[in-house]
Formats: sequence, structure tokens, C-alpha cells
Amino acid sequence: MKIYDKQTPRPFIKWAGGKRMILNELLTALPVKINDYYEPFVGGGALFFKIYKTAKYCYLSDLNSVLIGSYNAIKTDTVTLIKKLQYHALNHTTKYYYEIREHFSQSDDLIERSAKFIYLMKTCYNGLYRVNKSNKFNTPAGNYKNPGICDSANLYAVAEALQMTDVSCQDFEYITPKKGDFVYFDPPYHRVQNNSFVKYTDIGFYEQEQVKLRDFAVMLGNRGVNVMISNSDTAFIRELYSNFKSRTILAPRIINCKTSRRSSVLERLITNY
Ligand SMILES: C[S@@+](CC[C@H](N)C(=O)[O-])C[C@H]1O[C@@H](n2cnc3c(N)ncnc32)[C@H](O)[C@@H]1O
Repeated sequence: MKIYDKQTPRPFIKWAGGKRMILNELLTALPVKINDYYEPFVGGGALFFKIYKTAKYCYLSDLNSVLIGSYNAIKTDTVTLIKKLQYHALNHTTKYYYEIREHFSQSDDLIERSAKFIYLMKTCYNGLYRVNKSNKFNTPAGNYKNPGICDSANLYAVAEALQMTDVSCQDFEYITPKKGDFVYFDPPYHRVQNNSFVKYTDIGFYEQEQVKLRDFAVMLGNRGVNVMISNSDTAFIRELYSNFKSRTILAPRIINCKTSRRSSVLERLITNY
């Protein structure tokens, strides 16, 4: 049996809107004390993996059921998941990718489906989870020299981080933090242009959901919960959160598979403390 060195966990998949590139900005904006930590739009969980040790208990959630299933699969049966992922890694070709993608949505077994999900996310174009109108995953294959499909050491570290964590598939409004807890909301961005990506699930996230989220954040603030929110720096978002503290930050973006092609976008970082 191979023994892996303990390492600091990091996101086990790349996720659209992931916060890896602005982690330092987020870390400097945290509240002084955190009781329980909530991240109800968890995606790849970049901030969670940095701060989970500072919280008493963590609650992660997201509306994407396949994503949440994979957190639970890593948490409950890391060994079987890794074996299945290694099998996909050994067999990986573009043809194999499309075979797995074709039957992916029909996998009932949690570990089986999660291994396929992680495999597809590691090898698909730009690591983008995109579904069609029937909620079927339809991202084309990517073109990677070494996609790093199975990072066993990181998966074990992720499993350990998830032991003191509750992971559920639900809408953001179902979280129930108490006074002194900290919530980081990282919703799909308010669209800067009509083509901005907001469809992580078959439902989408539009201006009425942005307003619902602001109202929910106000309600939590009245209860003594510390809230931090990321969004795009648009006039609509500035107006929506005009009663909160907020500032603009510069977020570097990788705009295609070649890491040399980068640009930056402006984001708004909002807090109620
Ligand atoms: C910007 S991403 C979060 C990125 C994450 N912070 C990271 O570092 O990878 C937004 C997430 O919100 C989820 N989502 C969309 N609508 C939602 C809703 N109504 N309730 C909860 N999650 C939702 C999407 O599935 C997606 O994972």
C-alpha cells in the first residue's frame, strides 16, 4: 500500500468562477473571529480549503447535485473513488472521454458517478461544467498533455478536511447560521455582458436571484451573522449593496487553456462587518 505524505488540501477540480486567484484578498477581508463557517455556493471550495481549520464546524452546500455528490464520495469512500479514478486515468483517450460522457448522467452509484465526474472535469475543455437543456453534461474534450486525473494525496487530504464538515445539495436560502458564524457567498456573477456564464445548473442565476440573495444577507446581518459576498463590479451590484461595506478588487483570469493568455476583471468584495 502506498503511503502519502500529508499535504494541505486544495480544490480537487477546477471550477468556473473559482477564487484561487484572489485568495489573498479574501483572506485579508475575513472577520476577526469565526464560529461555524458556511459556504453555500461552494463550487471548488478554494476559500474553504484555506480556512476550514479556523472554524468550529463547516457547512458546505451548492445546488449542483453531481458536484456535491463528489464531495460526499471523497468523504465517505476515498479508497474506492481513487481506484475508479486511476482506472479512468489509465484508459484516458479522447474516444474514452466521449464514451464516459455519453453514459455519465445515467450512473446511479455515488462513487461510480463521482469518479466519472472528476475524470470528466479534469479532461474536459477549460474544466467547464456545462449542461444542455435536459441537464446532460455536454462540454467537449480538452487537449491536455498531462491532465493530472488522479491526485491521490490531495484526495486523501480533502477527505480529512471534510470530516468536520457537513456537505449538502440545496439552495443558498436553506442555510441556518447563528450569531457569530461566518458566511461566504460566492454566487454566479451578475452578468457583465449578455454572454456571462451563469448556468452551473439547469436553473441559472439572474437579477431576481441576486436581489433575493441581498435580502437574505441583510436578514442574516440583523441576526448577528458575519457575511462576505463576491460578485462582479457592475452598477447593479453596487446599488444592490449600497448599505454594505464594499471595495473593488482586480481578479486575474485565465482566458483559455494556455496559461499565457490571461486578463483581469473587476470584482466587488462586500461585507457587513
Ligand atoms: C461562482 S461559483 C462558486 C465558486 C467557488 N467559490 C470556488 O472557489 O470554486 C457559483 C456556484 O453557485 C452554485 N449555484 C448556482 N445557483 C445556486 C443556488 N440557487 N443555490 C446554491 N448554489 C447555487 C453553482 O453550482 C456554482 O457552483
